[in-house]
Amino acid sequence: MKLIIIANRLPLTIVQEKEEYKVIPSTGGLSTGLDSLETKMDKHWVGWPGMYIDDCKEKEVIDEQLEEQNFHPVYLSPDQIENYYEGYSNSVLWPLCHYFSNHMRYENKYWEAYKEVNSLFCEAALEIIEPGDIVWVQDYQLMLLPKMLRDRTPDISIGYFHHIPFPSYELFRGLPERAEILNGLLGADLVAFHTHNYMRHFISAVYRVLKLDCQLDEIQMDRRVVDVDAFPMGINYDMFHDALLNQEIKDNAEELRVSFGSGKLILSVDRLDYSKGIMIRLRSFEEFLENHPEYIGKVSLVMIVAPSRDNVDIYAELKNEIDMKVGAINGKYSSIDWTPVYYFYRAFGFEELAALYHIADIALVTPLRDGMNLVAKEYVATKRGEPGVLILSEMAGASIELSDAIIVNPTDIKEIESAILQALEMPAEEQLETITVMQKIISTQTVKQWAKDFIEELTGIKSKNDALQQK
Ligand code: G6P
Repeated sequence: MKLIIIANRLPLTIVQEKEEYKVIPSTGGLSTGLDSLETKMDKHWVGWPGMYIDDCKEKEVIDEQLEEQNFHPVYLSPDQIENYYEGYSNSVLWPLCHYFSNHMRYENKYWEAYKEVNSLFCEAALEIIEPGDIVWVQDYQLMLLPKMLRDRTPDISIGYFHHIPFPSYELFRGLPERAEILNGLLGADLVAFHTHNYMRHFISAVYRVLKLDCQLDEIQMDRRVVDVDAFPMGINYDMFHDALLNQEIKDNAEELRVSFGSGKLILSVDRLDYSKGIMIRLRSFEEFLENHPEYIGKVSLVMIVAPSRDNVDIYAELKNEIDMKVGAINGKYSSIDWTPVYYFYRAFGFEELAALYHIADIALVTPLRDGMNLVAKEYVATKRGEPGVLILSEMAGASIELSDAIIVNPTDIKEIESAILQALEMPAEEQLETITVMQKIISTQTVKQWAKDFIEELTGIKSKNDALQQK
């Protein structure tokens, strides 16, 4: 029996060293969670390796290395990347699920490519699937896959996890392919979300679009039920909490702290995305400096923006806006010995991030919409008996568990501005207390626990459905 995880991206990077290619597994949330899952099942991954490789000698070498590590690649052509990944996934579904219908760019060829690539993933998975296996489909890029798999192999367990928000019916109903997408998901035995709200929106869409018999947490199909549940995803808590025990990370953190000068540090870490509220965050910091000149020279914003989806126009435009805004703030307020905004347009690795989490006095996490947001959890976890304040958007799934943070409305510049002031003035004792309360929560609901709970529920529902079918 195998556990087969199917995700748009394989958790790895392929690096080229001179003439040779190397496959390096990455330590993303999902892969660390699954790595730590104690199970007798062999774990396999099916997904896109994140690059386009022609049929050449290197491809054979890479494929061999991938297969050795139980990674089964699905190669996408430039056309498929454009229409399935940049198109339907990231110019239709992503903006829709994040309530940015104004950013949706709809073209019929996107949908055709989405169907085509979902069936490519289906074929790739079928090559390794055997009866009794557990298949776990991840995220909005593969919403048709659960049904495709069920139609071809009835004797497997199929789970689906939606990592982003599921929008309210009023928005979802506008999608031309709403019925196909919902039917695609209902091929699974278990459809899961980060929060009860997303789950409620999904059930409401199924009820209204497909007119199926829906209960609070299950949907009645012909001779089987689909379980719907909420599993808030966590992080590898110990990895972050113990990071500072690593002397190298500690030394690096101390050096960084010195180079940033003596002012307080507000940290912000995101992928470049309009859903993250980066522009409003910058404007709030600018207003804060404007209205609180006593803090000029005494506090800096350290902003990390990881490049993402830069072939999608709206992302490229946002990058320009951010560049200009950072330039304007720094141009206006910088002095010889103080920089208001330290801006890094690149991804940071675990060690660098842990060092930054450690030295940051405040984490400013203000997405306009976010399925969960793990940065908020990572910041809290990294603190070891030291103060720190988390300012968190009420629109992030994480705000349900981290309700002891300073919770803000991410569109309200005034509110973010006063949250910054409140955080800067919060007594250390109060900071320590709140961090401890939040750590209790996130150290229990880890990513390992998340994966374990999901798999347990999935196997339970499969047995229930098998019994129903034998009746
Ligand atoms: C979000 C999505 C993931 C996606 C990630 C990075 O977290 O939920 O499915 O992999 O963003 O985006 P990318 O388009 O680079 O895969």
